[in-house]
Amino acid sequence: MSFVEEKNKFLAMSSEEKRKLFKGQVVSLDKISTWTEFWKSNKSDIDATSESIEPVDSELADKVSLWQGDITALEIDAIVNAANSSLLGGGGVDGAIHRAAGPSLKKECATLGGCEVGEAKISGAYKLPSKYVIHTVGPKGEKPDKLQECYESCLSLVKENNLRSVAFPCISTGVYGYPQAAAAKVALDSVTKFLVENKDSVDRVIFCVFLESDKDIYTGLLQKYFCLE
Ligand code: APR
Repeated sequence: MSFVEEKNKFLAMSSEEKRKLFKGQVVSLDKISTWTEFWKSNKSDIDATSESIEPVDSELADKVSLWQGDITALEIDAIVNAANSSLLGGGGVDGAIHRAAGPSLKKECATLGGCEVGEAKISGAYKLPSKYVIHTVGPKGEKPDKLQECYESCLSLVKENNLRSVAFPCISTGVYGYPQAAAAKVALDSVTKFLVENKDSVDRVIFCVFLESDKDIYTGLLQKYFCLE
């Protein structure tokens, strides 16, 4: 079977059928709290970051989630892969996504013509619970304009493909060495700007953190971006 036939076969499957193919625990969107829900049940434990942040419309906090775990488990419309320019796999989250998706992901990626830093390209997700994978290539080191381009390029593909839910890993903060707190701020600035301008285009943007340190950083920042009482 060609990767095209396999891609279409998986896209045509129901969530229940696809879940049987995924070896790990599948996490559906209804199991992921929005920031509003998380805030209401944890507000007394949350230390605000000292950063001065311009808050956005708190209603948008219903469209954002902070979730800690393996991005390959998420049963949503698209997960974002922190890839390299070849799009042919690697370590970190890139390796995890390719391992879980199976070999056809690489076969499709090989036809995408690579990816420049700041660009994004979309593929099927194959054996992953998500419907699509959006591959982006982050900058090596602290280059905020390029990192912002990654988030914007991914969100443009979400909108162009009418996807309603997407999860971002902490792009560039692993192998590519982008300082975590600075990267989180670029991520939040980019996503909140998109949500302000396109609030009806998506239901949920998930910040998928893997490290405890990133969870603390995003928790501190999020409640400054969304001032909930
Ligand atoms: N789910 C979610 N996040 C993960 C997972 C996972 N399964 N595995 C790792 N991460 C986190 C890391 O802890 C880090 O916070 O993803 C973030 C990004 O780290 P990297 O995967 O190293 O990505 P990046 O820093 O963008 O470097 C990209 O690394 O793997 C190679 O092929 C990739 O060359 C590219 C480079």
